[in-house]
Amino acid sequence: MRKKLVAGNWKMHGSLAENAALLAALKPALEGIKAVVCVPFPYLAQAQAALAGSSIAWGAQNLSEQSKGAFTGEVSASMLLDFGCQYVIVGHSERRSLYGESDELVASKYVAAQAAGLTPILCVGESLDERESGVTEAVVARQLDAVIKLAGVGSLAKAIVAYEPVWAIGTGKTASPEQAQAVHAFIRSKIAALDADIAKQLVIQYGGSVKAANAAELMAQPDIDGGLIGGASLVADEFVAICRAAAK
Ligand code: PGA
Repeated sequence: MRKKLVAGNWKMHGSLAENAALLAALKPALEGIKAVVCVPFPYLAQAQAALAGSSIAWGAQNLSEQSKGAFTGEVSASMLLDFGCQYVIVGHSERRSLYGESDELVASKYVAAQAAGLTPILCVGESLDERESGVTEAVVARQLDAVIKLAGVGSLAKAIVAYEPVWAIGTGKTASPEQAQAVHAFIRSKIAALDADIAKQLVIQYGGSVKAANAAELMAQPDIDGGLIGGASLVADEFVAICRAAAK
């Protein structure tokens, strides 16, 4: 049985003071519930100090595909490990669309993360235009195929996939549980065609305007195994309620 997992994506939000308050609220409220927070790089040490020994793991939102060298401004997988990270988001739609990350670059980042022992949270999802032109499945398949081509289907045994329709991210427009379930089922069946066991145990998170009010019905879908939460992960009560809905 897959265990649901909720991850927070803080994006470029927070400060030492704000994070201290948020982490202090999350820690007791999520005792015994496994969850993840993906914080901005400068706050990894703060997350590590605050969360060590708790049920909340921490991670980053991006990493370099390179292991070291003259890559000004980049952060490697081993640097993330130095701060106790277990997870790293790769291929978030904001990285793809605002920073030009190609499917191939995302796949290289996924490989770099796994090579260091980090669990990549691989984001896939279609834009509104793509949904309206009926190519949602083709887009998601292409994004997955780039990773499968480079890392093999077996690599998904140590990864999480997050389906995040771009039109639902930060817009307040959530995919309906049925819309999300349909794409999650597509992802699982696509992987199952290559490896049934891997598909069965693969955690597929949903992301895009998840909040306390809609979490329960999303999490009740058979192929939705948790969430990747942006805005609502910055509000302790909201994030806690979403994690609890997933843990039920
Ligand atoms: P949102 O963001 O929950 O604010 O829509 C989700 C994400 O981008 O991971």
